[in-house]
Amino acid sequence: MQTKKIFTATDPKGIQKAAEILSAGGVVGIPTETVYGLAANALDEAAVKKIFTAKGRPQDNPLIVHIADMDMLPPLITDFPEKAQKAAKAFWPGPFTMILPKSDVIPDAVSAGLSTVAIRMPAHPVANAMIAACRLPIAAPSANVSGRPSPTNAEDVYADLNGKIDAIVYGGESAFGVESTVVTFTCDPPRLLRPGAVTLEQLTALLGEVTVDNAVLAQPEAGKPVASPGMKYKHYAPQAKVVMVSGTKEQYIAYVNAQKASGVYALCFDEDIPGLEVPYVTLGPTAAEATHANRLFSALRELDKLGCTTCYAVTPARTGVSLAVYNRLIRAAAFQVVEL
Ligand code: TXA
Ligand code: MG
Repeated sequence: MQTKKIFTATDPKGIQKAAEILSAGGVVGIPTETVYGLAANALDEAAVKKIFTAKGRPQDNPLIVHIADMDMLPPLITDFPEKAQKAAKAFWPGPFTMILPKSDVIPDAVSAGLSTVAIRMPAHPVANAMIAACRLPIAAPSANVSGRPSPTNAEDVYADLNGKIDAIVYGGESAFGVESTVVTFTCDPPRLLRPGAVTLEQLTALLGEVTVDNAVLAQPEAGKPVASPGMKYKHYAPQAKVVMVSGTKEQYIAYVNAQKASGVYALCFDEDIPGLEVPYVTLGPTAAEATHANRLFSALRELDKLGCTTCYAVTPARTGVSLAVYNRLIRAAAFQVVEL
């Protein structure tokens, strides 16, 4: 299959072209403010199945359905609890996904057979204009080959999926760089399933108590059911082996220097650079947590391009946006952490 490149910045008909491919049952890589998504008509089971095939995604991992405005929501769900309404007012459009009881229009392929559906209203102008143009709810997981780091620009989508999808819409770098915050409202208090740019602190300030699913910080136990199926898979991993190193800045630098060998890299903060004797990729200044989120996935891809075989990564904080960076990085490391 020839993957068409659509440049919305220079092509006034670009959004319409992408919307037409979606309406006709095709799959399109699209920009969003979190990461690039692989989009298809959520109501068309055959189109949705193409997403799973292109990504090599396990069938039991459900997809997020994207909407452009509140009028698109009611047909998709059977209940909209008060706290979910409050969260929608505060965080939509934006990097925020709600799990709600699904209606019958959602095909099993989207919900992976669950009785719930994940819904998000993105804030990216191109994504929203495209959804509005076809007026279809759009299923879209991150547009990477399953298990690889999520793409934060169109070239990363091209690298993973060229020849496997109908088109890629070029829309610049994703602003946040990590996927949306996922919260389930099928229980009370609501429960955080995946941390993102909408932080746990923001959620509790708005909603009161919000519990944190075990899978956010720890490795799900083999064989046990998990609330968010995506959290049980090895994820976000570059080809290089990633090891998280937990300790003070001085301990981190000393440990990494002791591992010095061909192919060994550090994934560090700017302040670590002067002490390091191995090559590195930086996530930015230690205090710049939004920058860490923004750079994480491109940094993991960059390490592969540099020929890194083992990468020793700093350990992000578990607060604010850093909780999302920690959650993705520990999965990239397959939960391997060196405690100093
Ligand atoms: O920012 C994002 O959310 C991006 C952009 C493209 O919107 N999308 C994204 O999709 O990250 P994906 O498929 O890579 O991650 C969706 C996560 C998975 O962990 C999945 O298991 C979970 O949401 N999920 C989806 N439906 C669910 C449901 N009904 N119940 C629990 N978890 C669900
Ligand atoms: Mg993903």
